[in-house]
Amino acid sequence: MKLIVMLFGLLLASAPSFAGPFPKGDAKIGKTLHGKSCVSCHVSMVGGDGSAIYSRLERKVKSPQQLQARISGCNANAGANWFPEEENHVGAYLNNAYYHFK
Ligand code: HEC
Repeated sequence: MKLIVMLFGLLLASAPSFAGPFPKGDAKIGKTLHGKSCVSCHVSMVGGDGSAIYSRLERKVKSPQQLQARISGCNANAGANWFPEEENHVGAYLNNAYYHFK
């Protein structure tokens, strides 16, 4: 019994620090990809630097799953032809910068 408790403690202690819903994404790469393919259309919709589409009060995305789905959808619309890893990078960027999902 003691051993099990000890092993469990060890497991908890060795768990990697939590990296949010896009652990494989690199926000820096995401920022560059996003700037290339995503900003201009959002700017034409909301003005400014386009980021208001992510920070407006009535924004649509309410979960990491929805964020993922929206990135895929807009990726297809934009014709960016990103691979899933690239969508992950952009997910990490948008989550760090705007959505802050845990
Ligand atoms: C052709 C125009 C266009 C392009 C290009 C585009 N988007 Fe969008 N984006 C939209 C529209 C339209 C919406 C929906 C606005 C609404 O529902 O009010 C949107 C909304 C979003 C949202 C949800 C915002 C919210 O309400 O929380 C995300 C996230 C997003 N886009 C990501 C991207 C990404 C990532 C790219 C680059 C691959 C991209 N978009 C490129 C048109 C575009």
